[in-house]
Amino acid sequence: MSTHNVWTHKGTFLLAAVGSAVGLGNLWRFPYLTGENGGGAFILVYALTIFAVGIPILIAETMLGRNSRRSPIMGMRHLTVTHRTSRAWESIGWLGATSAFLILSFYSVIAGWALHYTWQMLTGSLAGADAETIGAGFDALLASPGLLTLYHTLFIIASGLIVGMGIHKGIESSLRIMMPSLFVILLVVLAYGIANGDFGAAASFLFTFNIADLSLEGWLQAMGQSFFTLSLGMGAIMAYGAYMSSEASLTRTAIAIAIVDTAVAMVAGLAIFSLVFGADLAPGQGPGLMFVTLPLAFAEMPFGALIGGVFFILVLGAAISSSISLIEPVAAYLVERFDLTRPQAVFAMVVASWALGLLTVVSFNLWAEGSLFHALFGRSAFDFIELLTNIFMPLGGLLIALFAGWALTPSEVMKEMRTSETWFTAWRFLVRFVAPAAVSFVFLRTIPQVDGYLIPTIGALVIVGAFAAGRTFLTESSQEQ
Ligand code: PHE
Repeated sequence: MSTHNVWTHKGTFLLAAVGSAVGLGNLWRFPYLTGENGGGAFILVYALTIFAVGIPILIAETMLGRNSRRSPIMGMRHLTVTHRTSRAWESIGWLGATSAFLILSFYSVIAGWALHYTWQMLTGSLAGADAETIGAGFDALLASPGLLTLYHTLFIIASGLIVGMGIHKGIESSLRIMMPSLFVILLVVLAYGIANGDFGAAASFLFTFNIADLSLEGWLQAMGQSFFTLSLGMGAIMAYGAYMSSEASLTRTAIAIAIVDTAVAMVAGLAIFSLVFGADLAPGQGPGLMFVTLPLAFAEMPFGALIGGVFFILVLGAAISSSISLIEPVAAYLVERFDLTRPQAVFAMVVASWALGLLTVVSFNLWAEGSLFHALFGRSAFDFIELLTNIFMPLGGLLIALFAGWALTPSEVMKEMRTSETWFTAWRFLVRFVAPAAVSFVFLRTIPQVDGYLIPTIGALVIVGAFAAGRTFLTESSQEQ
């Protein structure tokens, strides 16, 4: 059964995909990874991967959605039938839906921190505070399972309500208000950073590169980040692509998404590092950059509490516009497959992902280092879930590239892309050779790093593989009858 839903306008897919792409990845992860990995060199690798690997896969993933006009799982099943390829490719849909579910569980917890800081900023409780107080405040937040659960719950309910209202009334209309407001706020924060901070230091930190500064680990993180930030390989783009107008251009839209997403990351980086350097703070603080270093910078600056509050509203908005794109692929599947109503499907997805999110909540306190879980698995549950998604994501991307590049018939793809011969050839080359090589490289390098995780990881892959193989076998035998 197809959903027959299409976005209201030709350009709505672009809006929705930008909403999905721009999120915590741009505002929180990109700046801190850049800070930890020495600035410019990291950005260079990141940008190269976005253009040589990210865009081609983005085009492929959107195309799979639009061509099937179904949720990722049902869509892949449909494509394997219409294109007469192995049913095993359906695993792309399953991998995507699983990753979306896993990512939502921790994404919502971290977005919840922004809720806490919005509140703290706007009530002025951090005004004039020193480094110690702010650091202690962040530690106290993480140490409280109750508070973390409260924020996580509020955030996921808000996301669920939007998706539950449907793609037009819920997703489209909220994005139409949210996205322009977010861009305005980002520019306000940038202007504030330029006026009160050290813009020169930020620009030279971000844009002077010395490739020797970048470790192998940094290379991998840069490539991983470029997937995460474009929302690739997780069914989100495929689910949104299913509603894309047939008239919109795949190539132009994908390039526009990548450019806007990269620009937002750069502007956020410039704004954040202007403030950080202006307050004489260190850029390499890791994940605490946004929640410790930045509040400290705001605490010292004029109108810091107000601008800080507005900044965290930006973070929240960007996170919600991404989290709704994580709910959609799974909810749409439940609607198509089990004939649930949309609110029922969203409810099921959100409750399950919320419950899994509790594991992330306790990873910072009850089950942190020193607990039995940590002793058994060598990491926190949050690190484990994040690691799984870091494996599924490139794997999903790899399979999408291989499917689009090798399994689909070129003439069909050419028809869907409706672009010039040259563009098509370039895209096809990237998707057949360059993207799979780059992604495999990232993927293979992650495996040895996961040492103690090798066995659970292989276990998970074997289960997915066996499932896919089982389905292939079942379909083939049922086709023979
Ligand atoms: N791209 C989002 C970000 O940068 C995260 C995300 C990943 C959203 C995958 C949807 C799917 O924050």
